[in-house]
Amino acid sequence: MLLFTGKGGVGKTTTAAAVALANARRGAATLVLSTDAAHSLGDALDRDLSASGSTGPVSIEPCLHALQASGRAHFDGSWTIVHDYLASTLSSLGVDPLVAEEMTSLPGSEEIAALLEVRDQVRSGRWDLVIVDCAPTAETLRMLALPESIAWHLGRMIPGTVGLRRAARPAAAAALGIPLPDVRFLEVIRAAYEDMLGVHEILASPRASVRLVMTPEAVVIAESRRTWTSLSLYGYAVDAVYVNKVLPPSAAGEAGAAADWLASWNRAQTAGIAEVSQSFDGLPVIRAPYLPQEPVGPDALAGLAAAWQDEALTGHVLDAVATRTMRVDRTTEGYTLALPLPLTTAREVGLQRREDELVLTVGDHRRIVTLPAVLTRCTVVSARVRSGALTVGFVPDPAQWPR
Ligand SMILES: Nc1ncnc2c1ncn2[C@@H]1O[C@H](COP(=O)(O)OP(=O)(O)OP(=O)(O)O)[C@@H](O)[C@H]1O
Ligand SMILES: [Mg+2]
Repeated sequence: MLLFTGKGGVGKTTTAAAVALANARRGAATLVLSTDAAHSLGDALDRDLSASGSTGPVSIEPCLHALQASGRAHFDGSWTIVHDYLASTLSSLGVDPLVAEEMTSLPGSEEIAALLEVRDQVRSGRWDLVIVDCAPTAETLRMLALPESIAWHLGRMIPGTVGLRRAARPAAAAALGIPLPDVRFLEVIRAAYEDMLGVHEILASPRASVRLVMTPEAVVIAESRRTWTSLSLYGYAVDAVYVNKVLPPSAAGEAGAAADWLASWNRAQTAGIAEVSQSFDGLPVIRAPYLPQEPVGPDALAGLAAAWQDEALTGHVLDAVATRTMRVDRTTEGYTLALPLPLTTAREVGLQRREDELVLTVGDHRRIVTLPAVLTRCTVVSARVRSGALTVGFVPDPAQWPR
């Protein structure tokens, strides 16, 4: 599975559709799926996909299907049970009903519905390759952070799950005069929890990765750099970057305002491409020309794909991601936990130990990492950010270690 994201308007949908098309024409059973509510995948393919959210993937070519995730709220029916319980609890505590309503609606339900659609398609076994055309970066990051953070919240409501020691127990509820949840409440929570774990497992699997699409402009590159850091924080791998809309070089010796304009853009784009190569060192950087017209429809998309190097077309996750996720290693003193955090410095990273969790922040992004069992009985002794990775040192806490 390949997810395409990047700043607004850089060509995510076009690139995703062209990669899908190229793979389908090489015989891979391919699905291109859009989680972006903007519905532009249909425009790029020149097909109406608006009904596909309810009727299923639409056939575009022999090996290519396309689907616009409907964003229909998946939990709506069952979530009512949870919502009603929480709302009555809050109102019995004297919380204003309007505020209670706000607090009990499920955030990001459209994104969750889209992710569950992705999960179902991946699990169906129907596809060799699933390509996901995502919304612009801010929304995509929010969407990709959801499964783990929702699972974390739901996990605390399920007795016997990690992190539940501090959750309200029935006795406490009775003492406080809060109505007790019924069995269905727990069933809904448990099902939603498993859904979120399933989605996260698929997104973070070694067979999935993110490709960043950008244009060679300073502002776009700056945002893409931050996106790479944030994706890494959440444990998602990036395996290639596409630099789209590269202008053709101006002919030597040409004069006039138009030629000056083009020459000026050529210089800026050359500098931009150099910066991309430097920033995303180690990842393949794939360039695509700014075509003389919008590549709309399968043949035009295939034309764009034909302008790429071979690497751009691959439907396989590229090797660059070997070091993608968190790793725990033994050391002579104890253990280290390492997480890739490219393009960031120690000053920007926040780290807080909270019982069996680590709370990591980079800028506005936060991730709560549930520590592996062995580390929960250790003390944090060091933390550093160097060469694009955060390394946290742990030593066993003798008080918590069986002799
Ligand atoms: N290489 C290219 N050459 C010429 N036109 C292009 C190229 N790539 C994309 N376009 C055009 O640029 C516009 C934006 O492309 P696209 O919709 O793929 O961007 P996007 O990043 O998905 O946008 P959004 O942020 O709205 O989802 C479209 O009109 C598309 O046809
Ligand atoms: Mg798009």
